[in-house]
Amino acid sequence: MREDHRNIAIEAKALNVGYRTPSGTPAVVLKNFDLTVPEGEFLTIIGPSGCGKSTFLRAVADLLEPVSGSLSVFGGDASEARRRRDVAFVFQDSTLLPWRTVTENVSLPHDVGGGLSRRDDGPSAEGLLDLMGLKGMEHRYPSQLSGGQRQRVAIARALITEPRILLMDEPFGALDEITRDRLNDELLKLWRRTGSTILFVTHSIMEATYLGQRVMVLAANPGRIHEVHDLRPLKSADGTCSREDPLVVAAMAELRRELALC
Ligand SMILES: Nc1ncnc2c1ncn2[C@@H]1O[C@H](COP(=O)(O)OP(=O)(O)OP(=O)(O)O)[C@@H](O)[C@H]1O
Ligand SMILES: [Mg+2]
Repeated sequence: MREDHRNIAIEAKALNVGYRTPSGTPAVVLKNFDLTVPEGEFLTIIGPSGCGKSTFLRAVADLLEPVSGSLSVFGGDASEARRRRDVAFVFQDSTLLPWRTVTENVSLPHDVGGGLSRRDDGPSAEGLLDLMGLKGMEHRYPSQLSGGQRQRVAIARALITEPRILLMDEPFGALDEITRDRLNDELLKLWRRTGSTILFVTHSIMEATYLGQRVMVLAANPGRIHEVHDLRPLKSADGTCSREDPLVVAAMAELRRELALC
C-alpha cells in the first residue's frame, strides 16, 4: 500500500474516556482507544447505541477530559485545538437559535468569538449559505425551514470559522432518505473542496460506507474499537463510489454482519 505522508489530525493512544459519577470516580465508557486519523480523512463511525460514539467526538472537541491515556489534536492538546477553533461540531438536532435569522445563526461563531478576530478573507455567511443551497433563505427564522434546511444552516455555521476538523454527530439522522443522499453528495463535495478532516457518526450502514474513506466500527460494553475498515480501494480518485457497485454492496453486507456482533 501507498505510504501515508499526511499530517496527523487526531491521535488517541490507550485512551480512556468517561463521565464523573456522583461518588467522584469516573465511569469509563471508552476503553483503550488507539486511533490515528490523518489530516484530510473522512472517517465514519458506526456502532450500537450507547457504545460511545458521541463520547469520542466530545473528547476530540474538548467537551470531555480523558480519564487516562493520550489524545492529541494536530500534535497538541484538544483544548489548544479548541482555542484555535480548529474543531467544529454539528449535532443531530441542529440547535439553531430560534430568535436569530438564518444569516445571524451562521455568523454566530463570530459574534461569540471570545476575542478571536475574524479573518477578512474568511468565508462569509452569504457565501456559505449559497454553497449549502440556501440562497434566498437568509432572512428566515429556523421555524420557517425544513429539517434538511436547518441541518444545512448548522453545517454552514460550523464552516464559518474554517475548522480543520469537522465533527458530525448523526447530522442527517432525522431526514428522509432522498434528502439524506443529496446532503451526503453535497458534504462529499464540500470535503473535497475544503480538505478538512471529518469524523461522521451515523447509524446508517449505507451512509457510513458511502461517505467514509475509512469506517470505524465500535463495540459496546465497554466502548472499544472493533475494527477499522479501509474503503479507499472501493472509491474513485475523488472519494466517491456508486451505491450499487457490487463491491460496495458487499462491504455493506460485511459491516451489517459485523455490527450484529457488537
Ligand atoms: N453526561 C453523561 N453522564 C454519564 N453517562 C453518560 C453521559 N453521556 C453519555 N453517557 C453514557 O455513556 C455511554 C455512551 O454514550 P454515547 O452518547 O457516547 O453513546 P452513542 O454511541 O453516541 O449512542 P447513540 O447511538 O445512542 O447516540 C452510554 O452508556 C451513556 O449512558
Ligand atoms: Mg450518540
